[in-house]
Amino acid sequence: MTEHTDTAEETVLDIRGLRTHFLTDDSVIRAVDGVDLRVHRGRTLCVVGESGCGKSAMARSVLQLVEPPGRVVDGHVFLRPDGAGEPVDLAALGPTSREIRAVRGNDVAMVFQEPMSSLSLVHTVGNQIGEALRVHTGLSRKQARARSVELLERVRVPGAERVVDSYPFQLSGGMRQRVMIAMALACGPRVLIADEPTTALDVTTQAQILDLFADLRRDSGMGVMFITHDMGVVAEIADEVAVMYLGTVVEQGPVDAIFHDPQHPYTRALLEAVPRFGAARKGRLPTIRGSIPDPGDQPSGCVFRTRCPEAVEGLCDTTVPPVTVPGPGRRIRCLLREGPTAPADSEETVDAD
Ligand SMILES: Nc1ncnc2c1ncn2[C@@H]1O[C@H](COP(=O)(O)OP(=O)(O)O)[C@@H](O)[C@H]1O
Ligand SMILES: [Mg+2]
Repeated sequence: MTEHTDTAEETVLDIRGLRTHFLTDDSVIRAVDGVDLRVHRGRTLCVVGESGCGKSAMARSVLQLVEPPGRVVDGHVFLRPDGAGEPVDLAALGPTSREIRAVRGNDVAMVFQEPMSSLSLVHTVGNQIGEALRVHTGLSRKQARARSVELLERVRVPGAERVVDSYPFQLSGGMRQRVMIAMALACGPRVLIADEPTTALDVTTQAQILDLFADLRRDSGMGVMFITHDMGVVAEIADEVAVMYLGTVVEQGPVDAIFHDPQHPYTRALLEAVPRFGAARKGRLPTIRGSIPDPGDQPSGCVFRTRCPEAVEGLCDTTVPPVTVPGPGRRIRCLLREGPTAPADSEETVDAD
């Protein structure tokens, strides 16, 4: 337990009933289809699921960064201010509004999988971090440079004084990702959203970046939403876990509960596919059977039933599973698991509305 986790029940980001759809000529892709999640101060929420489950669409929706034809069509994204004050519903702000631009990079920062897609090739590292600082804080050029060096040191870039004047193409992938994290930290965000930030890195570099995230969340008290498709990564850094499948959260709970008592068949399948956590079988690594259905054509009833080893005909194909709450902080969407049903809105106090 760290000093911040003692008071960690403080919610900094509260996502309710979020729906983000891609409206194409002949179909509606329901990339995010009713997601409820909370990010707590000083804690890391890992969102995990196979590729195509809607993790990136959900994360980008928080900051209204979904690109057309995608659009947030329903739900709320409440950002809690420090101290007293009313939460702001980011989902109600226009994607190009002054209000949402003031939140981006300032209260809520984002780090993506591919640093090169977010970094400019023609500006030095220092100028790019400095730009983030000057937009939101009005520091002078000289102050911004000094602060950029401090930020690079904070993300453990060796030789920060030198790196600040270099260009992204002169750096390794791991160093670029550190630069991106330094930019994200520039304005002291309350929420950091990291979308597969280690997926493109080699194993050693990945381990170093995961250590860095653990330290940052401990030292700063930021709430972190960390997106990954890798249960091994979840085991390293999560406090809380949300398992996503086809646009919905099928199971969520504290990390210990997810690893030691997984309830949803999809969570179990994800764990079995990881050699360290699944029963070590001889020979081939088990994979989850079948593939994700076409997202424009979701199954009736339970979205996972077409791949579920436990699916019951006449039940799972006809009934949408309600959310059951088997224990504190746990929520499961499966017709085959018993437990008290969550009230329509949430099992927790509705204090944001
Ligand atoms: N620009 C787009 N146009 C149409 N569909 C999209 C677009 N971007 C994402 N999608 C669809 O939304 C679903 C969720 O994608 P995404 O959020 O990227 O998943 P993940 O991050 O979990 O891999 C996928 O089915 C994907 O095909
Ligand atoms: Mg993604």
